[in-house]
Parts: sequence; structure tokens; C-alpha cells
Amino acid sequence: MAQRVTPAAHLRGELRLPGDKSISHRALIFAAIASGETLIVGAGDGHDVRSTAGMMRALGAACERLPSAPDDAPGTARWQVRSPGRSALAARADGRLDCGNSGTSARLGAGLVAGVRGAHLLDGDDSLRRRPMTRVLEPLRAMGVAASGAPGERGETAPLRIAGGSLHGIEWHSDTPSAQVKSCVLIAGLAATGSTTYTERVATRDHSERMLAARGAKILREQEADGGWSIRVQGGTELRALPQVEVPGDPSSAAFWLVAASLHPDADLTIRGVSLNPTRRHVIEILRRMGASIEETPRPDDGSGEPIGDLRVRSADLRGVEISPRDVALAIDEMPILSLAATMARGETSIRGAGELRAKESDRIAGVADGLTRLGLTVRVDGDDLHFVGGERPIGGIPEVRGDHRLAMTFAIAALVGDGAVEIDDAAAAAVSYPTFFDDAARVAGGAAREESA
Ligand code: S3P
Repeated sequence: MAQRVTPAAHLRGELRLPGDKSISHRALIFAAIASGETLIVGAGDGHDVRSTAGMMRALGAACERLPSAPDDAPGTARWQVRSPGRSALAARADGRLDCGNSGTSARLGAGLVAGVRGAHLLDGDDSLRRRPMTRVLEPLRAMGVAASGAPGERGETAPLRIAGGSLHGIEWHSDTPSAQVKSCVLIAGLAATGSTTYTERVATRDHSERMLAARGAKILREQEADGGWSIRVQGGTELRALPQVEVPGDPSSAAFWLVAASLHPDADLTIRGVSLNPTRRHVIEILRRMGASIEETPRPDDGSGEPIGDLRVRSADLRGVEISPRDVALAIDEMPILSLAATMARGETSIRGAGELRAKESDRIAGVADGLTRLGLTVRVDGDDLHFVGGERPIGGIPEVRGDHRLAMTFAIAALVGDGAVEIDDAAAAAVSYPTFFDDAARVAGGAAREESA
């Protein structure tokens, strides 16, 4: 499905976003590990989260999708999960678990099945089969698990074969800033004998830590002398099923609107109920450094363990900034849309140390550079760094989405805030994380922003 998106006369109104993708995956996985029943409300309804629900079902947890209630946000789903608890889960006869396009399902799923009886085979689409998996297989092997992948360009990749059941705790240090690797090790650590400690140099998203603590896991997070973090989880503790989990709006989806409204000269958007978790809100800080006008109204604590708030963003005069490797680690999913901001902001911007972007649903360094260039913008790639001259305007065109949801949405925003129509060749890709994106775009841009072309 292709979509033609045209420049917006204005961007105005209110948005309620799909539930946070990272929290939605974890809510399903932790509900399957705990014995009992959990109602998950406001889960992101993208393909990725559905992949995780299918995997939990295949392992023996009942995951029923319930009809939406009238005040559920668009693009969200309600799930009722009933699980006999991890020790009663098992691989089914063929062991297959379909992760689709979702790296989170594969990497967190690998950690889960390491502690679930049977021979598991985790696989997915062509994009997933290109993504690096040695980073999760190595710590699992160190825990005594027989785990292997297929040979790929960057080490092992899916399909992953994992013989689950018995494993022991480890101390693991990772140089790759990755919440997926961390979560894989912590989830496996729950099923291991003894304790498991994971250390990371840069704090990555901490939803697993917060959610495990809220479900009764013995977990300790401490800052190291060098500024890194160590997280220790005690194996053998049963998780408590939470009766109800509310998933807040996804800050990575909010980022598209934060950038769009900042760049558009006639914009005023309010985004309701977004997770403002300190490890996810960094895109707001980067945009503020660029001169964005973003007001936050925190909401009262809803017991989810996640700080939540409303965001109001208005037109601003953005300026170029230096984006460091630490910024990249803290706002990894927002780099494509921040790249668009960088092309239009006054003055130069550099994004440094962005190599991890090559390990995403597509090589996002190549995809961003090529796509934005096709829209008449200047991007220079130097190794793992991106450089932008700034002060330019997208003139429209036909960029390649490369099956990547965040590229599809970045190029659509370039149309809304730019001077020419953009043809999104694979608009359906957006549904991986934000199935209502094009509806939201049409609504806040007054309906003129979308014409279906094929
Ligand atoms: C995620 C972590 C990030 C992010 C992905 C979701 C998670 O990946 O890019 O969209 O839910 O833990 P890495 O941890 O591999 O960087």
C-alpha cells in the first residue's frame, strides 16, 4: 500500500497514542511468566506486540484479545492473559515461535524460553533474519543453555535454536548499549539458579527492571563508579501476576509529533498520557536543546511504576546541536525523526556514534541518509556519524521505506512540514508500531494530508 502525503496547512489538535511498544511486550511476557490472570489495557496494537502475544500463546499461556472499551485509545488493544506460570509452560511439538519483524520479541523471547522446557525455534521475517543475535546467544550460552543461530553477516541471526530448561546465574558485562540484551539476560536470570548480574555502560530503557520489581522479583539496580549501571536479579523467585496493567502512550511515537509540530510554522499539538520514563524521555531533552517548545503536565501516579504526562508542543525555531553517542543510546529509536529535525534546524548538526542504528529493522544510517537525500536534503555519512548542514526544506519525492516503520513515519512527517508531496511506498510498515499513524496525520493536519495512491 502506498500513500501520498502532502504538506499540512497546520498541525493542531489532541492525540492519544498507541501504548508503549516496549512496555506492551514486557506486560505480555511477565503475565505469561507469572501464574494467574492479568488484564492488559492500552497495549500497543502494532504487529510487533501481536507477535509476542502469539508466542506466549504457543508456549501455553492463554492470551485472549478482548473487545475495546469506549474510552480505549485508538490503536490500542486489551489482552486477558491467563498463565499456569513459567514452570508449566513448554515448547510445543515443532518448537516454532514466530517473532515476525520484532527484535524485541526475539531477544526477550530468547531469554524467556531459555527457562522454559523444550526445544525452541525462534524465527521471523527477512529483516529479523538479518539482525544480530550473538549478543543474546552468548550470555545464554554462558548460563549453560544450548543456544545457536544461523550464520549471518554480523554473527549469528534468526532462526535461533534454544534448548530451554536449566540454567545458572552469571555476571555479564555488555559494551553494546541494548535494553533488549539486558532484558534477555534478566528474564533468563529469573529462571536460573543463583543470582544474575548485568552491567551496562550507559543506562538503557529500564522498563524490565521497573516491571519486574512491581511483580515481586528480587532486583537491585545500582550505579557504578564509572557512571554505568549494574542490575542484579535473584533466580528462582516466582513473579506475582498483576490483576491489571495500564500501558502508557509510546514516547517513541510521540517523537514524530514533537518534531513535526516544532518544525511546522502553524502548530499546536497536545499529546495525552505519554510515558515520561527517564530512560525514554531523552528525545524531549534533545529537542529542547534544539530550542523546541514542549510543555509537560505530569499525571498522578497510576501505580504502573512509569511516570506519565501530557505534552504540549508548539511551533519553534530549531537550531542545530551536537548529538553524542550517549544521546544516541538514550534516544536510539528517535534518531530517524531527529535526523529530519537536523536537516531543517538552523545551523549544523552532527549525530555521533550511531552504529547501533545499523542493527535495527533496516540499516537506519543508510536508510535515513538515502531517504532524506531523495527528498532534496543534505546528509553526509562518515562511518557511524551523520552530519547535516541544516536550514533546508524537504521538497517531496519518493524515498525508500525499506520495510522500516520508523522510516515510513519520518518521511511522512517530512511531507507534512515540507514543500512537496511525499510518496510513501510501503505505508503499511507504520503498523509495526503505530497502526493509526496515517489517521492521526490526516486528523491533525485537517484532512488534507493524505491521499491514497495505490
Ligand atoms: C527496545 C530496545 C531498543 C529499541 C527497540 C525496543 C526494547 O533496542 O530500539 O525498539 O523494548 O527493549 P536495543 O535495546 O537493541 O537497542
